[in-house]
Amino acid sequence: MASISTVPVFLGERSYDILIQAGLLEKLGDRLKKLGAKGRVGIVTDRHVARHYMRNVLDTLKRDDIEVVPIILAPGEQSKTLKTIGRILDILARHRFERSSLLVAFGGGVVGDLTGFAAAIYQRGIPFVQIPTTLVAQADSSVGGKTGVDHRLGKNLIGAFYQPKAVWIDPLSLRTLPMREWVAGLAEVIKYGIIADEGFFAYVHREMPRLLRRQPDIVAAVVKRSCEIKAQVVTADERESDRRRILNYGHTIGHALEALGGYESLLHGEAVGIGLVQEADLACFQGICDREVVEKIRDLVRSAGLSDRIPGWSSFQVWKAMLHDKKVSGGQVVGVWPERIGSVRMASIDEQLFHRWYKASRAESGVNKSHSKAPLQGRK
Ligand SMILES: NC(=O)c1ccc[n+]([C@@H]2O[C@H](COP(=O)([O-])OP(=O)(O)OC[C@H]3O[C@@H](n4cnc5c(N)ncnc54)[C@H](O)[C@@H]3O)[C@@H](O)[C@H]2O)c1
Ligand SMILES: [Zn+2]
Repeated sequence: MASISTVPVFLGERSYDILIQAGLLEKLGDRLKKLGAKGRVGIVTDRHVARHYMRNVLDTLKRDDIEVVPIILAPGEQSKTLKTIGRILDILARHRFERSSLLVAFGGGVVGDLTGFAAAIYQRGIPFVQIPTTLVAQADSSVGGKTGVDHRLGKNLIGAFYQPKAVWIDPLSLRTLPMREWVAGLAEVIKYGIIADEGFFAYVHREMPRLLRRQPDIVAAVVKRSCEIKAQVVTADERESDRRRILNYGHTIGHALEALGGYESLLHGEAVGIGLVQEADLACFQGICDREVVEKIRDLVRSAGLSDRIPGWSSFQVWKAMLHDKKVSGGQVVGVWPERIGSVRMASIDEQLFHRWYKASRAESGVNKSHSKAPLQGRK
């Protein structure tokens, strides 16, 4: 089996390791036993992931005498609700899960956020493990302990900070991911280079053709570095009081676009890809970075196959959607701005300046369509 990489997440008594290994899924029983899993284990997944992997996982665990309760959800963001949490809790109670019983989140960010939240509240907290299967989840959402569900009035409005006992990543599980989901995940990877590591940004740039082909060693390296950066930031600020907000680079405009598209027209990573470029452009407009920084980011985002352009919403629509984001405090939109590749700073943004920039950048790129879809409120 391929070599294993470990990324520690230091959070005092809530510390845990992220393990990255191609083929890890085949040895899941060993991993669960080493973690001290007792009694039955609940595996939460969605129908897409189950179709590809569940039979093998169940066979492997059966051979290891581990009793599994599979909990298979409908795929997609629509499942990220309190109703689904209710269903998961019903199943746990019916199967008499105890305080020490283990829950496993086996899937993308939706499954991870749901399972983590169910684990946080069932019997006031039971242990859970993340086994992320999308690039977004492997490089980002499975690490850091943010769990929760959406509400009619806002995305991720209900939730808890609750850390997993471990994150186990098998990069081979990404081979079945649809191309559009794969490319969307690359936006989060690019983000890490911009906020924290110029060398990593250059590496992603150089290796983009191999990344697009999902070459296993490159994928594993990129996932590992992304986890290291996220772990570092989360360790410094577990509950997002300040520094952790740098992870939101690209997400101020990104979330607004996602919400304006009704969480349907753009995937999260696609909206973030546009946000990475446009927020750099806005930083340049404010004199925070040089034009060269914007063009480097644009170049990398485009080379991943992501769009760098805001669809035809008006600056007022975008600003209003930005105001619903949780980076807003006291009516101020706090943005994360690149000073150069590998370094960002936070500062609030003035509404008038935003509209001036929007008008100027639209004029430059010659975009002037209108879009009528009603905005939903959005958060991450
Ligand atoms: N907790 C956090 O810190 C954090 C950070 C970023 C995003 N998120 C959340 O994550 C969610 C988005 O996550 P996502 O992009 O992983 O979406 P997702 O979980 O909906 O997965 C995307 C699609 O890929 C399918 N899929 C998953 N793994 C697969 C595989 N290996 N092969 C084939 N198909 C597979 C899923 O069934 C789904 O259809 C959002 O709800 C977002 O709010 C949370
Ligand atoms: Zn994101």
